[in-house]
Amino acid sequence: NWTMSSVVEDSVAAIREQIGSRRAICGLSGGVDSAVAAALVQKAVGSQLTCVYVDHGLMRKGESEQVEKDFVAATGVKLKVVDAEERFLDALAGVADPEQKRKIIGREFIRVFEQAASEIVAEAGEHGESVDFLVQGTLYPDVVESGGGTGTANIKSHHNVGGLPEDLQFRLVEPLRRLFKDEVRMVGQELGLPEEIVQRQPFPGPGLGIRIVGAVTRERLDLLREADAIARQELTAAGLDRDIWQCPVVLLADVRSVGVQGDGRTYGHPVVLRPVSSEDAMTADWSRLPYDVLARISTRITNEVDEVNRVTLDITSKPPGTIEWE
Ligand code: XMP
Repeated sequence: NWTMSSVVEDSVAAIREQIGSRRAICGLSGGVDSAVAAALVQKAVGSQLTCVYVDHGLMRKGESEQVEKDFVAATGVKLKVVDAEERFLDALAGVADPEQKRKIIGREFIRVFEQAASEIVAEAGEHGESVDFLVQGTLYPDVVESGGGTGTANIKSHHNVGGLPEDLQFRLVEPLRRLFKDEVRMVGQELGLPEEIVQRQPFPGPGLGIRIVGAVTRERLDLLREADAIARQELTAAGLDRDIWQCPVVLLADVRSVGVQGDGRTYGHPVVLRPVSSEDAMTADWSRLPYDVLARISTRITNEVDEVNRVTLDITSKPPGTIEWE
């Protein structure tokens, strides 16, 4: 398609001009945006780019393997994997406030990137030049909703926009800053990325950290990972992946309710299913999922996930709700 190929050409030229012969790193989150941003920059400056996958322990089940295998296979990009689970969980310990969580996660990301950058330079030996650029998959709606665009909204600090520290060492490369998600997918397709990456449902950079209402702990993350994996399996099995925009699963970690299982009383946590339909995530409607699919998800989660004894459905559109709970 002529328009998309010229969008790609223009943005490759702009990236070359900005980065020149210097080095860049790009964080991969497992989401579409960072994958497409990385593939664009890779096309523009090749091996001057190193992708960094920060395993912060807030990922969904199977995500790390997917990034490590599929993305590298599709693009041939240089990838550095950093195990940073402990560091993120320590930094988040006891923090329940959503904006504070977002800012902490954004800050830790940058620290890990800085450290990765100096390792990349060291590994390059005496010809190593410093890493001056950080590539981010910021989209137009992220810019608007973080209050950084022409709009006045300041709804959430998307970690790749509002949550950056003031003393940032890197200059930002944001090739998707003017695009909406559907356009990003078209760019990804134009670049030859596989369907599994291009059509993947959006997943926020701060990961499951903003899907636990309450403080983030490893135990809570494990519960949520199990519940989320079940919901995704059942939605995929029902052939619904293309019909919904995404379906966050949220753990209400500070809430408990009484239940009964076998002949015993339970006192566990609820999870919330948040299936939404949307064009660009600026507005959304709750998805009318078939009752039998909802029933299967509910039965499986309450049977298979310890400590979760209730499944609820979020039937709020955006506005007034946002898609994520935090
Ligand atoms: P909200 O919750 O603002 O979400 O209605 C809109 C879309 O953005 C995703 N989202 C994020 N993506 N970093 C990201 O890369 C973030 O900090 C972030 N917060 C929300 C969310 O999943 C939805 O698709």
